[in-house]
Amino acid sequence: MSSVVVVGTQWGDEGKGKIVDLLTQYADYVVRFQGGNNAGHTLVVEGKQYIFHIIPSGILYEDKKCMIGNGVIIDPGVLIREMDQLKDKGLTVTPKRMMISERAHLIMPYHASLDQAREAALADGKKIGTTGRGIGPCYIDKVGRVGIKAGDLKDEELFKEKLKAAVDEKNFLLTKKFNAAPVDYDVIYGQFQEYAEKLIPFYGNVSVELDDARKDNKNILFEGAQGTHLDIDHGTYPYVTSSNTIAGNACNGSGFGPVYIDAVVGIMKAYTTRVGAGPFPTELFDEVGDQLQQKGHEFGATTGRRRRCGWLDGVVVSDAVRLNGLTGLAITKLDVLSGQEKIRIAKSYELEGETVRAMPSNIKEAAAVTPVYEDLEGWKEDIENVRNYDDLPQQARDYISKVEDLTGAPANIVSVGPDRKETLLLQ
Ligand code: GTP
Repeated sequence: MSSVVVVGTQWGDEGKGKIVDLLTQYADYVVRFQGGNNAGHTLVVEGKQYIFHIIPSGILYEDKKCMIGNGVIIDPGVLIREMDQLKDKGLTVTPKRMMISERAHLIMPYHASLDQAREAALADGKKIGTTGRGIGPCYIDKVGRVGIKAGDLKDEELFKEKLKAAVDEKNFLLTKKFNAAPVDYDVIYGQFQEYAEKLIPFYGNVSVELDDARKDNKNILFEGAQGTHLDIDHGTYPYVTSSNTIAGNACNGSGFGPVYIDAVVGIMKAYTTRVGAGPFPTELFDEVGDQLQQKGHEFGATTGRRRRCGWLDGVVVSDAVRLNGLTGLAITKLDVLSGQEKIRIAKSYELEGETVRAMPSNIKEAAAVTPVYEDLEGWKEDIENVRNYDDLPQQARDYISKVEDLTGAPANIVSVGPDRKETLLLQ
């Protein structure tokens, strides 16, 4: 396995949780490198349900080490709650099992206040669909060089100084610009003293640890959150997340050299979904869209919002193959397509009579493209019980071959149900 990066190829919710869990078996280290607690997946192991937002699900295995890289932003309250919930289920997270980069930035209470105030101030139709957890404002402060890093909690004077300056500035914005409630310096300071005590024992140099692991021939799994088209640079801006979600950021976000990455696996749902606003060329507004939504249980994990559904967009996935340098695909939820008479895949777009082969960077153009579809015959059989590629209906195999042809990436894994055993390994 060596060093493998896993990323979503679409707009998130591709079913990364299951595939990451599958690959974690082979890993010694599991690394998060971007995003905050806006990600998350639910796993059921031996009848117990676990919900993860920050800690990699690899924590469930005693012999794996989970790393929270410098590119992640941490809400300490959420992280500590996640650790407490694991403890309630009999799993104590110790520094032997988890390391936090001192360079990771902290999501402060005023970030969430600002996130919500900004979104509320946007007119309907202009809203980004933020989770309101402070992710965007935290990354803004990081880039603006006024962020508070995890390591700052070790230096009381520095922390006080930075917090004071931040609270002054944010309260000005909150009260004067957004007419929202201010935050309280003393309350935050007290809270973060408690957090410091709990988090500092986990601090370490993630880059050094991973480099040592690599030299020691350990297997390292980099776990991406969200999806390629939510990338701050390459996604459908501004309907994106605030970090780079593509594979290159596995290196930036953890301090790992790019030449040491051996494989990049892209998780691709067999159709397309999107939460919230933003361009979605293959979106369906008919009963097929409803069928995909119902059969695929396409509701937001945290918000419960109905996800928008549509046919597989080969342009979106080809973009992901290029942007991430994908060495292979893991196709999920193929079973959801069973029973469709005809299955469509967008192979390109058309815009004002011209053929377009990549998602336009201009948001209005991205919203105006018309997909050019290739139609394939569907299959009637349920495929949840299929365990070998050769036992899939011919039409399902044709579908997989078509995806490989259109995107230029081989399918390594095909998932035909939520369970770990409902998985076909191809190569
Ligand atoms: P992301 O990291 O955002 O991808 O989160 P996630 O992996 O939890 O994805 P999502 O919220 O979309 O949840 C995926 C759901 O689909 C989970 O309930 C999985 O159990 C389920 N699932 C995963 N793979 C398959 C599959 O091949 N078929 C079916 N029917 N369900 C699947």
